Amino acid sequence: MAAERGEKWVLSVTAQTPTNIAVIKYWGKRDEELILPINDSISVTLDPGHLCTTTSVAVSPAFTHDRIWLNGKEVSLSGGRFQNCLRELRSRATDFEDEKKGIKINKKDWEKLRVHIVSYNNFPTAAGLASSAAGLACLVFSLAKLMNVKEDHSKLSAIARQGSGSACRSLYGGFVKWIMGKEDNGSDSIAVQLADEKHWDDLVIIIAVVSSKQKETSSTSGMRDTVETSALIKHRAKEVVPKRIKEMEEAIAKRDFPSFARLACADSNQFHAVCLDTLPPIFYMNDTSHRIIGCVEKWNRHEGSPQVAYTFDAGPNAVLISKNRKTAALLLQRLLFHFPPQSDADLNSYVIGDKTILKDAGIEDLKDIEALAPPPEIKENASTQRCRGDVSYFICTRPGRGPVVLADESQSLINPETGLPK
Ligand code: DP6
Repeated sequence: MAAERGEKWVLSVTAQTPTNIAVIKYWGKRDEELILPINDSISVTLDPGHLCTTTSVAVSPAFTHDRIWLNGKEVSLSGGRFQNCLRELRSRATDFEDEKKGIKINKKDWEKLRVHIVSYNNFPTAAGLASSAAGLACLVFSLAKLMNVKEDHSKLSAIARQGSGSACRSLYGGFVKWIMGKEDNGSDSIAVQLADEKHWDDLVIIIAVVSSKQKETSSTSGMRDTVETSALIKHRAKEVVPKRIKEMEEAIAKRDFPSFARLACADSNQFHAVCLDTLPPIFYMNDTSHRIIGCVEKWNRHEGSPQVAYTFDAGPNAVLISKNRKTAALLLQRLLFHFPPQSDADLNSYVIGDKTILKDAGIEDLKDIEALAPPPEIKENASTQRCRGDVSYFICTRPGRGPVVLADESQSLINPETGLPK
């Protein structure tokens, strides 16, 4: 398999993959092993400049077993989901040759060659943001490149799906639909791009990372309990989501923000309602999440049409999608009014990501936050409205692109000599 350079070579690929936020939620599986959902879902891919996973994968005849390091720590690769992805990729690997480096790998060699995987998130892991979507998508995307897998993104999405359902939607930028499919073998349960990130680039997304002491129920076990015990989930999957998917596709195609916002908020609320309808009930949102919903609902009502949509995944963090930069600045003012930082905070780490939104909001330092006037929709009782310290920090971002290979070897997370993390 290796030519002139003997058994010493290390071949690697590095890729960057975005995370995504569902605006029509996936919740519930009809097949646990293949990860086949009970309804279609739609997501927005987030700008990888602010939230993404970078993964380097390497292969070498010197490697003795498959290994993975996540955010600096080696973890076990023995889980069924990792193994399913690896098996699917190896079976689709093709011949590879790099004449300059003197490396030649035949299709059948991939079964025997072991891989090293090193992965980092560019956002704090403690944020409680769904990192599995970006992580698994990046693992599949980078290994597919390394192994010279020639399948298109929709086929790769079906492999990423077997790592984590929501990961299949991170194979594309912009607006993405995961089609649930009908086949028992999952071959038609794939993600497709509805529109790329340039299609609706007015949208600005602000994530409120909400402080939480509570240990959350994992999505995997939560949705299993919901499918087993909730009567409402059946109504949701059969009657509600199919109609919403059509309406959401239309809203995205027409850039119809009021419909988009109405559907996204309603679907997030129904997802949390089915969690509450589960036995034992699951509470992902907390008081701060509820307060954020209250602020947005009040503001939208006051304006007479939606300015902002909210959506919450399996945790208390709010993802707020505003219709343009102007409303994003007004939203950030409101958020900072309601949730000012602790007095010893550093503004630079309290609002991260696209800082120009902070500038548009007229906030240059902590004093500007303290001086914010209550928004017109809450004039009365304003003194009771400020909840210092309930939000850890905010991330300003926007819809973003799909996975890319980082060609510059200096960006690799793997030492080319040792094949171990740098
Ligand atoms: C609430 O994809 O994390 O974020 O398929 O079991 O790995 P598994 O679950 P996961 O579930 C995500 C659920 C959600 C909604 C969504 O992303 O659609």
